[in-house]
Amino acid sequence: MKKNKTKLFYIENYGCQMNVSDSEIITSILLKNGYVLSESLEKANIILLNACSIREKAELTIKKRLEQLQYLKKEKDKKTIFGVVGCFSIPIKNFLFKEKIIDFLVNPDSYKEISNIISYAMMGKKYFFIENKNETYADIIPFHLNKNKITTFLSITRGCNNMCTFCIVPFTRGREKSSNPYFIINECKRLYKNGYKEITLLGQNVDSYRWNENFLNENIKKIEIDFSNLLYLIAKEIPFMRIRFSTSNPHDMSDKVLKVISKFPNICKHIHLPVQSGSNKILKLMNRKYTREKYLSLIHKIKTIIPECSISHDIITGFCNEEEKDHKDTISLMNEVKYNYGYMFYYSSRPGTYAYRKLKDNVPINVKKKRLKEIIDLQKKHSFFRMKKYLGEVQEVLIEGESKKDSQYWYGRNTQNIVVVFPKKNNKIGDIAFVKITKTTSATLIGK
Ligand code: SAH
Ligand code: F3S
Repeated sequence: MKKNKTKLFYIENYGCQMNVSDSEIITSILLKNGYVLSESLEKANIILLNACSIREKAELTIKKRLEQLQYLKKEKDKKTIFGVVGCFSIPIKNFLFKEKIIDFLVNPDSYKEISNIISYAMMGKKYFFIENKNETYADIIPFHLNKNKITTFLSITRGCNNMCTFCIVPFTRGREKSSNPYFIINECKRLYKNGYKEITLLGQNVDSYRWNENFLNENIKKIEIDFSNLLYLIAKEIPFMRIRFSTSNPHDMSDKVLKVISKFPNICKHIHLPVQSGSNKILKLMNRKYTREKYLSLIHKIKTIIPECSISHDIITGFCNEEEKDHKDTISLMNEVKYNYGYMFYYSSRPGTYAYRKLKDNVPINVKKKRLKEIIDLQKKHSFFRMKKYLGEVQEVLIEGESKKDSQYWYGRNTQNIVVVFPKKNNKIGDIAFVKITKTTSATLIGK
């Protein structure tokens, strides 16, 4: 009889933190089904790429990588199969299959079927992919892949209902679904018991987290848990765990959430609040559901309720119909807020989205890039301005690992999610260090 070959899988991650968290769910499911996690790409016979289609560039990266890896298929005595999981647009899916680059594909709602799908693929059957629209994976304990075993991610919502006109996420990840709060709290407790010191709660739009529970009990008939309740419960139950969350949509962020953040020292004082544009005309075209004025008043509220809070952003330049004056509005908004940091992109039209179907991608690429450079340069100035304020201050830093640049230094982050590096002493990964800041770049604080 033929000996059963070990199913060695290797997983390579692209895209957002949600994909990292999904890779942990996939790993957990595969390990339970008798697969073995391989640290080496060359040794593995099942190669998974957790893909991202958010921008055209991300998709091209996946395509190139898959093409580059095809040599593994030609190796003697080894049948390597390739699968793509995660977010992918329909055109890239068709391309990958047509060109016979991949053997199978699994969308984010179907990971529970991944073992069956791989078995089919190993038998030469392809094109297998199903969908379960209510999947939250609440019953799967993720296999946390982060090597430091100190910080990790946990998804609390999946999908998105917001339908921003530029965004492919509602198409690749489906409608929004929230995970059971009991599962979330238990998983946080389990992680804490296992030595984890920081957890980042993930969702495309964490503020729209909602869980309803109906009881037969006479007195309590119905309980609704929203994001502020969830944060409160986790922060209270696990007081020494640092808690972060991402992403907040300005449209859904409530005062209740801000009050909970301000009340608990273990909830980190940082909010990622993508604005996308400073122009009301563009915000409307993007279907962002808030105005520049509303956004700025939210920023004001954050600074009033949580004065030490750092704020970061996402901005897109060159969206459909963006004129110079809209771009100037974005610049003036940035000047008003002076964000601590941000992620900036030029617009790329994504198949299937409203903007792709109904709006003209009419800003020339060189203009998109020029505007992008301008806001990146401005952000650098603002980051530097914010960072200078830390000089001479003592920061509470959770040590996450060795600095990549110098093994004599530790690397960690303060509550505002700013990276701090400092010389090693008698401390170890997972300790809290109090670091006096002596130098700064626009992205890193250096201290002792
Ligand atoms: N739910 C998240 C969005 C995830 S996508 C949020 O609200 O932050 C991350 C970022 O990618 C978005 O905030 C946006 O700035 C950028 N992005 C999304 N689609 C894009 C596109 N078609 N072109 C360029 N940037 C895009
Ligand atoms: Fe995308 Fe907007 Fe949702 S950016 S993920 S549709 S909040």
